[in-house]
Amino acid sequence: MQKTNCSLPNETIEACKESHAILLGAVGGAVGTDRWKDHPTGDRPEKGLLRIREQLGLYCNLRPAILYPQLKSASPLRADLVKDGLDIIIVRELTSGIYFGKKSRVNGDCDETTFATDELYYNKKEITRILEDGFNVAMKRNKYVTIVDKANVLETSKLWREIAEEVANKFPEITYKFMYVDNAAMQLIVNPTQFDVIITTNMFGDILSDEASVLTGSIGMLPSASLGNTTLGLYEPSHGSAPDIAGCDIANPLATILSVAMMLRHSLNLEAEAKSIENAVGAVLDCNYRTKDIFEEGKILVGTNEMSNLVIKELK
Ligand code: IPM
Ligand code: MG
Repeated sequence: MQKTNCSLPNETIEACKESHAILLGAVGGAVGTDRWKDHPTGDRPEKGLLRIREQLGLYCNLRPAILYPQLKSASPLRADLVKDGLDIIIVRELTSGIYFGKKSRVNGDCDETTFATDELYYNKKEITRILEDGFNVAMKRNKYVTIVDKANVLETSKLWREIAEEVANKFPEITYKFMYVDNAAMQLIVNPTQFDVIITTNMFGDILSDEASVLTGSIGMLPSASLGNTTLGLYEPSHGSAPDIAGCDIANPLATILSVAMMLRHSLNLEAEAKSIENAVGAVLDCNYRTKDIFEEGKILVGTNEMSNLVIKELK
């Protein structure tokens, strides 16, 4: 965006559509000043990300939160809460909900009469497909789903629950329960191992995935995949661009490297290769190498480049 002043030029969309998979760098801009505050059309980097998800129909966002056994003491949670590790996957709806509903700003000058709206919209098709995808993910894991909503307040959440009952009928082997989002935010802290697959809306998934990620030691460890109806997928680290440490060679590259593993698995059908990347990351952690975000006493501190090279060496 810095180069073209446009968050998503048409050439980029075209190139993405012709690809088998997309690896996306983290999104965000310079720290402190908001460089795009006065953009003539209100364009911003985040808008590019939302548009690319929408234009490519990538409605299903998979965000695994895995606490590597080597990083147990990097988790902010008490040791007894994570003694058996953590392995949660958040299945987040990604192309509808409050992110994409109608927005308005009336009497825009911000005086007493000014107001703004963001519509929270979901239709049956959108809810059904994300629930089905989430249940299919659960079939390959422990067959246990938690559907997170706010059905005590929101009409869209009530609709989610009705449709969830329908979808669940097609998956008799799966145990599922509903949980309000406020309670889920708390349960992730007090009893995180109760979760396996969490299926939720765009906004709740955004918030809970940041929360879940940090339980695993560092958001710098977590990959993500955004999928649609074809094998075309977009892969990106769950974290932002961390402009405050740009160029310092201290950022953790593992979330991006693990995103490549997800890309090999979900878009390119290369399961063995995906596993070998994940194993290489595990091996480098076993050898006690740590970037700053996951560093602790007694470990070997390495920078972004060195960490990447260690994983490459291990792969070879
Ligand atoms: C994420 C990010 C994005 C989102 C932003 C950058 C628009 O927070 O991928 O979680 O809210 O979806
Ligand atoms: Mg987010």
